[in-house]
Amino acid sequence: MTDVTTPSLSRRFALSSIVALGAAGLGAGARAADTKPSTPEKPTPPQAPDATHKAEPNASHPSPADQPGGTSHPVVKTESDIFYRPTIHFTPTIGFMNDPNGLVFDGTNFHLYYQYDPFAPYAGHVHWGHATSNDLLHWQDQPIAIPETKDGEAFTGCAVIDRTNASGLFENAQGGMAALYTRASSHRQAQYLAISHDNGQTFTEHAHNPVLDIGSNSFRDPQVIFHEPTKQWVMVVAKSRLHQIAFYASIDLAHWVHLSDFGPSGLFGVDYECPNLIEVPLEGGGRRWVLFVSVNPGGPTGGSITQYFVGEFDGTRFIPDDTVIGLTDFAKDAYAMQVYSNMPQDEAVSIAWLGNWQYCQELPTQSWRGAMTLPRTMTLKRDFAGWIRLAQTPRHIETLRGTAIPFATRRIAAGSSAQVALPPGTAIELAMSVTVDERPHDLPLGDKGRTGRFIIVFGNEQGETLTIGFDAFSGQLWLDRNDLKGFAQPFFTGQFSTVLNPDDRHFDIRVILDASTLEIFANGGLSVGTALIFPAGPLDFLRLEASGAAATVESLSLYPLKKTMPRDTAI
Ligand code: FRU
Repeated sequence: MTDVTTPSLSRRFALSSIVALGAAGLGAGARAADTKPSTPEKPTPPQAPDATHKAEPNASHPSPADQPGGTSHPVVKTESDIFYRPTIHFTPTIGFMNDPNGLVFDGTNFHLYYQYDPFAPYAGHVHWGHATSNDLLHWQDQPIAIPETKDGEAFTGCAVIDRTNASGLFENAQGGMAALYTRASSHRQAQYLAISHDNGQTFTEHAHNPVLDIGSNSFRDPQVIFHEPTKQWVMVVAKSRLHQIAFYASIDLAHWVHLSDFGPSGLFGVDYECPNLIEVPLEGGGRRWVLFVSVNPGGPTGGSITQYFVGEFDGTRFIPDDTVIGLTDFAKDAYAMQVYSNMPQDEAVSIAWLGNWQYCQELPTQSWRGAMTLPRTMTLKRDFAGWIRLAQTPRHIETLRGTAIPFATRRIAAGSSAQVALPPGTAIELAMSVTVDERPHDLPLGDKGRTGRFIIVFGNEQGETLTIGFDAFSGQLWLDRNDLKGFAQPFFTGQFSTVLNPDDRHFDIRVILDASTLEIFANGGLSVGTALIFPAGPLDFLRLEASGAAATVESLSLYPLKKTMPRDTAI
């Protein structure tokens, strides 16, 4: 890709006004001199290695931006910055974005705060960026809400609405919004409280921060819920290198009492991060508690992964139902998943960072890096074996549909295909329900008889293909991004798979393709795959192929999705 603009201003100079704007009205991060650790704890074996070393606390993803010269590149806007920019997924205007933070509905608007380095397309100097929306799809950029201060970077955290001023932190009975997040320096990670007097635009730090400090440099990412049965706020927070999630309680959001620890459990990895606890409706009735724990690195697909446990939470302790580990994704680009708080009817909605620490700082864009997944509605469903599992579906995407792209395809004979042109640069939604025929009788037993496959190909005349395939014999789905030529890096692996239903030649799938992002929702949302994709040229056709056996397409809909993001994109 070639440069199209090369502004003469340095990045730091050009961006300093944005930061100044965001920081305006915020205190200098005042910290009371008499602050003590809230809950001194006996160390739990095994000791976190970084408790004894003065290592970078988050060494699993060191920041190139901290290296000399790292923040002084001129702003270079390349064609790839535009070509790879999604049209309906949130991305930062410039700079680097990772985790979603402070996901909260304030009664009118949804807030999306996010981990943000406004100075460079690398992780570092973390602030809370901010955007608002009234539908979770059209986002308006807002000034930076929480800056880095002398106490440290503003790491991941949450926002809650205290509707009755139960905390006593607000001046009136209507309460307001509070944020709880980690301030991180090289030697300490502690939890901070800040409250907003302007509906989440700016935050004022509490006078007695940190509100929770256990003297660790590996203690981060608080999420807070109001637990109705015990009428208290409950915080889940990661003791990252210990592979534990700690539970704390408070009645005023400022004083926290240790309740219990969960883990190590499930995947080990290097760090536990970004825990989230939420009650999720179970199909057929009732609700169950789900604890999400992000792990990085060490995911089975490589690098970052979010695991979850279904269980009981009694206000003190989380007890998983079983030893089963659920993964939110079968690919590798949905991390640090966070859930919305204060949702009407307690709807369970999440957004994850569409990225992976293994390569997020090397992606082929120059002025911006990082995207969010689409908002997803979460439910619990029983799978073919009766296990309760997470189901995710994109929320209210139907509202973005343009005129359907005609593609009438009922039957595809074995060895043949059907193809349709795609409008270039536009986000596409494909939804299908397909049954692959039984093995043709004239085929001999053995390998040939086992190959009923249905393949969805997004491609171009340059020979690039992105394929999603269903293997009817084994009931598995695959995703292959290997034949896209726009990015290569050792960890940017290309092929992923998931099990749908054994002995079932039928599958349903919903695919959303938007510039450099791909989201797959199969089997009623039980199998979700999220992947960054970097074609070198536009993927301008869709081809459906049947191999080994014919297939019946019971339903197919193909829509362009209307652009929601005010960004320079290919359209
Ligand atoms: C997860 C994470 C968090 C941390 C933040 C820093 O991706 O590492 O643990 O708070 O990113 O930006």
